[in-house]
Amino acid sequence: MAKQIKIFDTTLRDGEQSPGCSMNLAEKLEVARQLERLGVDVIEAGFPISSPDDFAAVQAIAGIIEHCTVAGLARATKEDIDKAYEAVKDAKHPRIHTFIATSDVHMEYKLKMTPEEVITRIHDMVSYAVGFGVEVEFSAEDASRTDRDFLLRAVNTAIDAGATVINIPDTVGYAMPEEMADLIRFLKHNIHKADEIELSVHCHNDLGLGVANSLASIGAGATQIECTINGIGERAGNASLEEIAMNLVTRHDYFDAKCNINTKQIYRSAQLICSITGVPLSPTKPITGANAFAHEAGIHQHGVLCNRSTYEIMSPESIGIPQNKMVLGKHSGKHAFADRLQSLGYTLSQDALVKAFDRFKRLADKKKIVSDRDIEALIGATNSGEEQPEQVKYVRYAIMSGNTIDSTVVVTLEIDGKEQEFTARSNGPIDACYRAIEGMLHSEAVLDTYGLQSVTEGIDAQAVVFVKMSKNGDTVTGRGLSTDIIEASIKAYLSALNKLL
Ligand code: KIV
Ligand code: ZN
Repeated sequence: MAKQIKIFDTTLRDGEQSPGCSMNLAEKLEVARQLERLGVDVIEAGFPISSPDDFAAVQAIAGIIEHCTVAGLARATKEDIDKAYEAVKDAKHPRIHTFIATSDVHMEYKLKMTPEEVITRIHDMVSYAVGFGVEVEFSAEDASRTDRDFLLRAVNTAIDAGATVINIPDTVGYAMPEEMADLIRFLKHNIHKADEIELSVHCHNDLGLGVANSLASIGAGATQIECTINGIGERAGNASLEEIAMNLVTRHDYFDAKCNINTKQIYRSAQLICSITGVPLSPTKPITGANAFAHEAGIHQHGVLCNRSTYEIMSPESIGIPQNKMVLGKHSGKHAFADRLQSLGYTLSQDALVKAFDRFKRLADKKKIVSDRDIEALIGATNSGEEQPEQVKYVRYAIMSGNTIDSTVVVTLEIDGKEQEFTARSNGPIDACYRAIEGMLHSEAVLDTYGLQSVTEGIDAQAVVFVKMSKNGDTVTGRGLSTDIIEASIKAYLSALNKLL
């Protein structure tokens, strides 16, 4: 019987905590719904004490998720645990995830506590959390750099106090796969109630070994893996969920282990996180990067044409990369469009469908062939296809630009129902557009990052622009899509501003 591995997703906590990856409430709910579709076992929805927004997000996620366990993170203090309990208590399957550091360096310099004080705190706080009658996970932060005997004592204290999930984090991404495996084997042989406890690992990627360490731990007996979509997370990130899942599927012969991930939802999940965070994937990123299934060299192309298995160990279909079965274009009707959306796994309300069809028609006027990737991009970050309400709407722009002259642009916007236009000039076309918008709105928001990607190949490809903007400590992401890169840039800027305003 293949071993069952639980997937604990921390995209919304460790992932969201990483610089540039923050999400608003609507975005977090969208991600949580997608994680449920993806089939993760546990969603770590946030760190409720860290801010009122985080608390509200965990509570809202707990209210909508049906099948997954919803976990809230808490340091080993009563205040943190109270908040985490309040936030997750209405979930169908609530979990409090409490942690304290156990390595010498953390105890001495960060916690300023003695080892004995840490043991007492683990006993008291795990007991306190268990008292709420929900499932309790205990993490020994920096476990991989902790003295083994002390780690065993800490873990057994947590188990005796009622924790049923024990997590062993490689907090600073320091462990080597064989060391991690050895540690897990040691714990598996020595912890109390070894057969009843879910033994988990949480591996960071500082040395690029997050996934390797997680997989080595599975081989050694770990039954829960903590990971994130696209591997986002503190510093170099966490182990990537999609890489772990596809290793288990592709090398089932090696691991003899399985998980509940619906691999066909992997591509969509990765795209959703890119759109929301504005953090693009490297083209060579395993599984989901743009080149992961591209065969460039002649010899490879020839081999793949003869038989895909010559150079492909996984199929793009298996991770849900849309394959164009039937071409859609400007003569395609609403039924064909709705059918395609359905086969891509979208369920849109009537109103969202009408709007999406209108966007599709406008695109089909510009592009001969509308691919499934174009349609995915049109539906956008929200799987429901709903558009965010806009206070400021883009109407049109006109520009004169060249490499030997400044760019002069007239941007027309609809602000509170009235059209307004503004002219601006700068040495670049995008900067000129953004100055024109600022000339009308005086938002004083700061543009932190700007990124441009093409959705498909070809001269008529759509461009997607992501921007990050901030004002008074709030940072938001904006996304704009068009076959015209200047228009895509204006739309991205306005989508961010509409969130900030
Ligand atoms: O990396 C880490 O140690 C953590 C813990 C809170 C689990 O994120
Ligand atoms: Zn972490």
